[in-house]
Amino acid sequence: MSATARKTAPMPEDIRARKGGTPIVSLTACTTPMAEVMDGICDFVLVGDSLGMVLHGLSSTLDVTLEMMILHGKAVRRGLSASMLVVDMPFGSYEESPQQAFQNASRVMRETGAGAVKLEGGVVMADTIAFLTKRGIPVMAHIGLTPQSINTLGGYKVQGRGPQAEQMMADARAVEEAGAFAVVLEKVPESLANTITAEVGIPTIGIGASAQCDGQILVVDDMLGLFTAFKAKFVKRFAHLGDDAKAAIAAYASEVQARSFPGPEHVFSDTAPKAKK
Ligand code: KIV
Repeated sequence: MSATARKTAPMPEDIRARKGGTPIVSLTACTTPMAEVMDGICDFVLVGDSLGMVLHGLSSTLDVTLEMMILHGKAVRRGLSASMLVVDMPFGSYEESPQQAFQNASRVMRETGAGAVKLEGGVVMADTIAFLTKRGIPVMAHIGLTPQSINTLGGYKVQGRGPQAEQMMADARAVEEAGAFAVVLEKVPESLANTITAEVGIPTIGIGASAQCDGQILVVDDMLGLFTAFKAKFVKRFAHLGDDAKAAIAAYASEVQARSFPGPEHVFSDTAPKAKK
């Protein structure tokens, strides 16, 4: 079954209006060609700070810089005309104060052409979300497992089990109240994701959450089988491009060694072909 392609990029308000409607489709991307592949199929494309791991070989998102996000944000923007661009605020670029967040988020918006930024945190980030949204910067919130906080969360654990559920609910309500237009729920129990989705008025975007969320997101390198260092339970591999690439590179190596590549159709003769009349 093929997905319907959009013709124009939605605005944050259009995404907000999808609450309870047709599920919102989103993926991450870091490069222009990958953005072109998903343009119009995804409602929004996230330049996620997971690029530190899947593209740059870092061990976590903590070493990702604002410059890296802007560089990849610009690249992805060039590949999009029918999907909205959202860019992650990296660790250390927004937590200190609403003013620091505004300074860096306005740079991201101006330099990449993004329609919105995403930042991690619930209640603790509510003032910052309100500060940004009141000053023209649409914010997507991200709660549950927030990878920039792995050192205080004790690793990449499911968040919101047992007594933690109440705090998660408070986080979801706080980001809605502060003006976020959507909220990512990462690695939270399915039943809690369903309760949050039912109780907050903004769309929930699930990753390791629930099919009942208002939308889903995955890291594209995970779902295409390009990043294989590890696989979280919530990742479904829709393709195995890493294996395909390995087979193609091995075939290339064999042909180079056998001198069967390049073939006659890939080389040039001494004389230029006659121009067609
Ligand atoms: O950085 C990222 O890719 C993300 C998604 C997992 C939501 O934040």
